[in-house]
Amino acid sequence: MAVFLSSPVKPTIHLTVFFNPNPKKPIFKCSCSLPTVTITEPEPVFTSVRTFAPATVANLGPGFDFLGCAVDGLGDYVSLRVDPGVHPGEISISEIIGPSKLSKNPLWNCAGIAAIDAMKRLGIRSVGLSLSLEKGLPLGSGLGSSAASAAAAAVAVNEMFGKKLNQDELVLAGLESEAKVSGYHADNIAPAIMGGFVLIRSYDPLELMRLNFPEEKKLFFVLVSPEFEAPTKKMRAALPAEVGMPHHVWNCSQAGALVASVLQGDPVGLGKALSSDKIVEPKRAPLIPGMEGVKKAAIEAGAFGCTISGAGPTAVAVVDNEEKGKVIGEKMVEAFWKEGNLKAAAVVKSLDRVGARLVGSVRK
Ligand code: HSE
Repeated sequence: MAVFLSSPVKPTIHLTVFFNPNPKKPIFKCSCSLPTVTITEPEPVFTSVRTFAPATVANLGPGFDFLGCAVDGLGDYVSLRVDPGVHPGEISISEIIGPSKLSKNPLWNCAGIAAIDAMKRLGIRSVGLSLSLEKGLPLGSGLGSSAASAAAAAVAVNEMFGKKLNQDELVLAGLESEAKVSGYHADNIAPAIMGGFVLIRSYDPLELMRLNFPEEKKLFFVLVSPEFEAPTKKMRAALPAEVGMPHHVWNCSQAGALVASVLQGDPVGLGKALSSDKIVEPKRAPLIPGMEGVKKAAIEAGAFGCTISGAGPTAVAVVDNEEKGKVIGEKMVEAFWKEGNLKAAAVVKSLDRVGARLVGSVRK
């Protein structure tokens, strides 16, 4: 069994202040004793694991940086294995299936950064790991592509070593990655890990609230992605540093209505609130060719509401019927073409209530 030393216990510090004729320069003497605590490093319970993490819709209109949800059937996979060829305590990215522009350097890759953070949290020093990333989500699409990779990686490391990290720690590992790649926001990574709707009540300390949309109620997301890249960093730079009181009051009331609609299982109320952002969407929509026309087309076709998914360019509309969703999707694709000269593709998806999970494993 591998062990390492660390000191989660605070050191005992004795501070003595001596009499000094010059009060502006007090003399302090300090003696410090550091207790050592032995912590057992968890051993791998598998030789390899495979995980999946879903796509996410962040912001949900008025919930900029504090509301998001996971959608089913779209996402990224991570395969992780114990690799004696990798230096103990380190991780190597052996393969990326998908966009070639992603770095294989774990320090520059969303999955790598989250995996390293999860390994640090677990205190892994004796085992080297190899990671393979399978991208199911396009980059910069507004569907939480980087968060899906980070969530799948953090959960893979956690599963590998017997699930010692809790949900908040997993989100923090993913947040480390999000912060480096696009900004410190958890509205993709939290639902990617937890599934369902999540409210980020506080960042420091991290406080997450799971919002349960009733199982028996129907809810579909029409996701229409144009062939256009909207890097999150650039879309964040377009936002105002301050907002006026009327917009603050309006957006808060809409975000409150959105939370209430989720809990009541009311897709009409949810759509109405989703459509109502007066702070972020008006600044970003003009940067995505055709977005304003796409929103109009969605509502005219019967969607309960429509907005930008995350930082865009994907547009998300809400409806309670899958077939109706497909028709709305076609109208939105047409509008992207007519109004923005952009080709687009539509899918209709429901809520992913599970979040990042183990989908395969080989026991030791
Ligand atoms: N809340 C983030 C933003 C989500 O809108 O910038 C990015 O996917």
